[in-house]
Amino acid sequence: MKKRTGNKKFIHFHRSSLYKEERREVIKTLKSGWITTGPRTKRFEEEFKKYIGCRHAIGVNSCTAGLHLSLAALNISEGDEVITTPITFPATANVIIHQRGTPVFVDVEMDTLNMDVSKIDERITKKTKAIMPVHFAGHPCNMDKITDIAKRHNLFIIEDAAHAIESIYNGKKIGNIADFTSFSFYATKNITTGEGGMLTTNNDEMAEKARIMSLHGISKDAWKRYGRDGYQHWELFYPGFKYNMFDIQAAIGIHQLKRIDNFLEKRKRYVEMYNDAFKDIPEIVPLKSKGMDEFNPPVSPLSEGGINGGYKIRHAHHLYVIIIRTEELKADRDKIMHEIQLRGVGVGVHFRTLHLQPYYQNKSPLHPPLPKGGTGGFEKGMFPVAEYVSDRVISLPLYPKMTISDVKYVIKVVNDVITRLRK
Ligand SMILES: Cc1ncc(COP(=O)(O)O)c(C=O)c1O
Repeated sequence: MKKRTGNKKFIHFHRSSLYKEERREVIKTLKSGWITTGPRTKRFEEEFKKYIGCRHAIGVNSCTAGLHLSLAALNISEGDEVITTPITFPATANVIIHQRGTPVFVDVEMDTLNMDVSKIDERITKKTKAIMPVHFAGHPCNMDKITDIAKRHNLFIIEDAAHAIESIYNGKKIGNIADFTSFSFYATKNITTGEGGMLTTNNDEMAEKARIMSLHGISKDAWKRYGRDGYQHWELFYPGFKYNMFDIQAAIGIHQLKRIDNFLEKRKRYVEMYNDAFKDIPEIVPLKSKGMDEFNPPVSPLSEGGINGGYKIRHAHHLYVIIIRTEELKADRDKIMHEIQLRGVGVGVHFRTLHLQPYYQNKSPLHPPLPKGGTGGFEKGMFPVAEYVSDRVISLPLYPKMTISDVKYVIKVVNDVITRLRK
């Protein structure tokens, strides 16, 4: 989509695809008089559950909330170590710290930016309680290997699937494999509710616990409390959180979910255009789709939700990330991004490595120094791949509201900037 700044067009990094059905459902919700967690949240949870093919889906107000709830429900607490990736949004590791646990990072693979599973074993100690993989950009992690490590060491798996609503690994939808999986409906995600998330699990007991914890730790939610069966008192079981999804969010989500296959189909087409355009440019290295080449049927219809639609592995194509080989160019990543933006294309960075952020480097103005050997023990040189990509990744626009000519425009701008900055 284009914004005109003077005579120049501008292609935003992201624009949500919201239509009249979403608007009507929000209005209907407002008119219904029930605007907090209620029938629409329930309906969205049921439909999402069907899409994933899992036993439980709990609507929450963000993916972060879902991740935090997972850790809390699994009793991750003071001193527990959770293995995760430094190439992620801070939320993944923040929630470990909220539980007074310690994030333990492992380096990433250069070609997918997913956790390098061959490096997990060496980071396991007596304190390790869980592994938190992030399916970066929607490329599923090697869940066979992660499940195998988790079984051997008796660890929980909590998937950060913020990018991975449509992802499939080994014939199973993501959301069906781990102890808990948390999805995001943030404004820039594959489908959106503005802010919002969904937590899935196949464990009945954990589902009930997480649901109770998501609404203060009390036993009955408001919808049921004020229902036709007479007033019911709540009981407090846990000092829980205010993480519940509410019906205005769900009103949007219900219609977004119906569009999910169509959206993915479009993004996939744009990914193919980008890949094709950049294949002969040595300074641009797009991320790879591993294990997806042999069999790549069209996106399965929603009616086949929960079933893999014939896919062994499916990429959700949330982001299109390129690694710029800045060593071959006259400019660093930030200068290149600036040049691209000046020429009318919005870009993003996913992600700068967490372990070099001020908090993890004991340089935060908001926090006293952390103990070495724990959360404060991170130094430059510890995760070479993460550090390399941290200074080189750029995310290009990828969303269904773009047109083919927008994609061509992005390609042209990126090519022009790179060509001009060659040594
Ligand atoms: C990898 C990852 N995890 C977690 C989150 C947090 O999602 P939310 O904003 O829904 O809490 C994001 C959001 O950008 C993300 O990219």
